[in-house]
Amino acid sequence: MTGTACRVCAAPLRTFLDLGDHPLSSAFLTPAEALDGAKDTVRYRLAAGQCERCALVQLTGNVPYERRPHQGYPYHSSGSAVMHEHFRAAGLHLLRTELHGARGALGVEIGRTDGVVLRTLAAAGVRPLAFEPSGRCGYGAARVRPDFLTAASAREAVAAEGRARVVYAANTVCDIADLPGLFAGLDELLTADGAFVFEDPYLGEIVRRTAFDQFYDEHRWYFTATSVRALAERYGFRLTGVERLPVHGGQLRYVLTRAGRRRPAPEVAEVLAEEEARGLTGPATLDAFAGRVERVRGDLVALLEALRAAGRTVAGYGATAKSCTVATYCGLGPHLVPYVCDSTPAKQGRVTPGAHIPVRPPADFAAPYPDYALLFAWNHAEEIMAKEQAFRAAGGRWILYVPEVRVV
Ligand code: TMP
Ligand code: ZN
Repeated sequence: MTGTACRVCAAPLRTFLDLGDHPLSSAFLTPAEALDGAKDTVRYRLAAGQCERCALVQLTGNVPYERRPHQGYPYHSSGSAVMHEHFRAAGLHLLRTELHGARGALGVEIGRTDGVVLRTLAAAGVRPLAFEPSGRCGYGAARVRPDFLTAASAREAVAAEGRARVVYAANTVCDIADLPGLFAGLDELLTADGAFVFEDPYLGEIVRRTAFDQFYDEHRWYFTATSVRALAERYGFRLTGVERLPVHGGQLRYVLTRAGRRRPAPEVAEVLAEEEARGLTGPATLDAFAGRVERVRGDLVALLEALRAAGRTVAGYGATAKSCTVATYCGLGPHLVPYVCDSTPAKQGRVTPGAHIPVRPPADFAAPYPDYALLFAWNHAEEIMAKEQAFRAAGGRWILYVPEVRVV
């Protein structure tokens, strides 16, 4: 596929963002692999467009997904206490809403997770089940189907377990290539009144914060209520609920139910109207966003070069997938950011994709503190700044680039 047509409805795409060629965001290399170079050649065009018919924003370049290395860490909580609590609350929310009075009902989660949601459901007597192709999920292996959710895998699950009252997914649907397959699976798996509840990065917040680093290979779709409504209706579902979430720099949680089963909650019309008013369904707002992205790059590079010229030390904090977009697009490397601290053991001792910035454990952050820390994990800013209070107390300063470049 050339990437010029919408991968859902085949109408033309209008490209509004082109960040150049990028390595895969999960391609952390050993120092030897980085020197060798052979493992570091996979590149794709990081560009995004909006469908002129269904408004769905998507990557337009050909991303070599099949070559994506499988990392050995779960996406969800990133070692974050805030995210752990978020997923516990998500489980409790499902118990109060979709699973109310449904002891013994089947509750499904799709995507690699650390199991907090399913454990919360199971503690209240819901039967938990996960769909995750790698088979790795923080919940008990016996309750994981090593499959994508598709019509075929759903039929097998239904034969063994019955239908599900709720299917939940976080940070997963934005990464699923086969959306028709997903909806066919939901149709098989859900009870007549069942709901698909999913949450993903929200284009409205990405634009509001100029958070261009949310664009990377693993995020194929950048949803709005407008585009999710169109998507749902295409496959016989309806957008009947929407909720704003503060995590990961602003997400929306969507509730999809079968057409004709439920009336949309009032918030749905509110969010749709707001998206229309903000121009999220048309070109001007997205073009203005792309213009701000270029300005952030200019400001960030100028700041880091000035600090280097002044002999100040700088470290990165959080070797996020997002940081791959920032480093590649801005041309950052060890000359400007000599190392990055990250709590993920599988990343430590490696170098970041493309930029080859060495990843060190957080304990190294204080040994000694740099003068400035570039906060790549800005979505965890509150938690990290609280944890690293001693850095500020020692005179250190944080560099942020969302929504604009500033030193705090
Ligand atoms: P995420 O933005 O995908 O959640 O990734 C967060 C990254 O930041 C992950 O690699 C772990 C790292 N991190 C830390 O190093 N320290 C922390 O306190 C937190 C919350 C995350
Ligand atoms: Zn479309």
